[in-house]
Amino acid sequence: MIIAIDGPAGSGKSSTAKAVAARLGITYLDTGAMYRAVTLKALRLKIRHDDDKALGIIMAHTTIAFEGLPPDVRVIMDGDDVSAAIRSDEVTKRVSDYCARDVVRAFLVEQQRQAAQGRSVVCEGRDIGTVVFPNADLKIYMVASVEERARRRQMDFAAMGVKKSIEELIRDIEARDRKDSTRANSPLMKADGATEMDTTGMTLEDQVAFIVGRAKK
Ligand code: DC
Repeated sequence: MIIAIDGPAGSGKSSTAKAVAARLGITYLDTGAMYRAVTLKALRLKIRHDDDKALGIIMAHTTIAFEGLPPDVRVIMDGDDVSAAIRSDEVTKRVSDYCARDVVRAFLVEQQRQAAQGRSVVCEGRDIGTVVFPNADLKIYMVASVEERARRRQMDFAAMGVKKSIEELIRDIEARDRKDSTRANSPLMKADGATEMDTTGMTLEDQVAFIVGRAKK
């Protein structure tokens, strides 16, 4: 069984997808983490987002793996745990530029399909129901108001010891939404057959119960 969860930043995908995977005892695949890992590597190597040749080379020489069980899944790039580094402010601000490149997407989409071969997965991202797994058994499109999403991001940053104003977070989220929804390759959009879920004011338990209920049907 494949459960595809798409939606903009802060809509509640990650925490919900992790909890659904844990409850159903199936694999959790965080595709945003893969785009973040590639972005981190490119920034460390000072490769510009429009240098497709150099990006093609790093894509062919990068391994991204996940270790552990949800909710404690670690992201391992080239053997190193980059789980914290990929959540930095700099990676978050730049990832939309790198993930828009065809060379990056082609490589990662292939890896995502391979990761799901022969197993049940909950996969979250922006193009899962539209491009990666258009035949997914269950497609969910999560949304939430931008204020609510900024509040959630503020709490994520606070947990990392970083203080951010709601105004700045709203600006960052809106900029990322705009780039992710207007890019030419696999823009963020609701997939055919997806159920829209507005998580504003919903508890995590409500969100998980809704998806698990649908999956069991
Ligand atoms: O879900 P996230 O915030 O960790 O995702 C980071 C970025 O990766 C996001 O700005 C858009 C991009 N992304 C994508 O283009 N396609 C996916 N399937 C997942 C994420």
